[in-house]
Amino acid sequence: MEIKVAPSMLSADFRYLADQVRAVEDAGADFIHLDVMDGHFVPNITFGPMVVNAIRQVTDLPLDVHLMITDPDRYLKAFSSAGANFITVHAEACTHLHRTITRIKELGVQPGVALNPATPLDNIKYVLSDLNLVLLMTVNPGFARQEFIRGVIPKIRKLRELISEVGFECFVEVDGGINPETARLVGQAGADVLVAGSAVFGAPNLAEAIHSIRYNAKRAQLV
Ligand code: DX5
Ligand code: ZN
Repeated sequence: MEIKVAPSMLSADFRYLADQVRAVEDAGADFIHLDVMDGHFVPNITFGPMVVNAIRQVTDLPLDVHLMITDPDRYLKAFSSAGANFITVHAEACTHLHRTITRIKELGVQPGVALNPATPLDNIKYVLSDLNLVLLMTVNPGFARQEFIRGVIPKIRKLRELISEVGFECFVEVDGGINPETARLVGQAGADVLVAGSAVFGAPNLAEAIHSIRYNAKRAQLV
């Protein structure tokens, strides 16, 4: 299975956002991960569709928009118009999850659903085949630089099994505390899109950081 690395711009230097996007693109990023936070669903506040659209203009890489916001339905159109390729909503933030997923598809965007560490896979069981991506949080959402929660590993493994059983294409993305070490654990469990913020932007060499995350996850798959 091909492994993709999605640097999270949350850990970039926002004074030079365009340059930082180009830098991770040149360093081998597969997706650009954009963390949208509203100060309600999570304690932190980041940015909205305007910034997503600004980033859209400096890269052709897929924009992987992670909405950590209450009532995401209100903003799906705005993020789609801003140029999102994937829109991922939190199951915990959606009362009518199937409707939200359908709406994302109608907008011509690939739908994803994110689950907090404590949320069971059962919450998405009956919508799984409608999704292009499932994002399993490996930290509690809200901030970069938190410690990877190992308890999520069996959930990654189980999700990969479910997807193989049903036999459809769907990314298994992990987000939070991913670095070249934890990349082995999630790669072995079956994740194929690895989000990394601080481990990429905090590294002395962006290309080396992206390469070692991808390489370690890939190598662990074979074990
Ligand atoms: C956390 C965000 C993550 C975060 C990851 O709520 O969803 O994408 O930026 O940062 P690191 O890789 O530093 O844990
Ligand atoms: Zn994220």
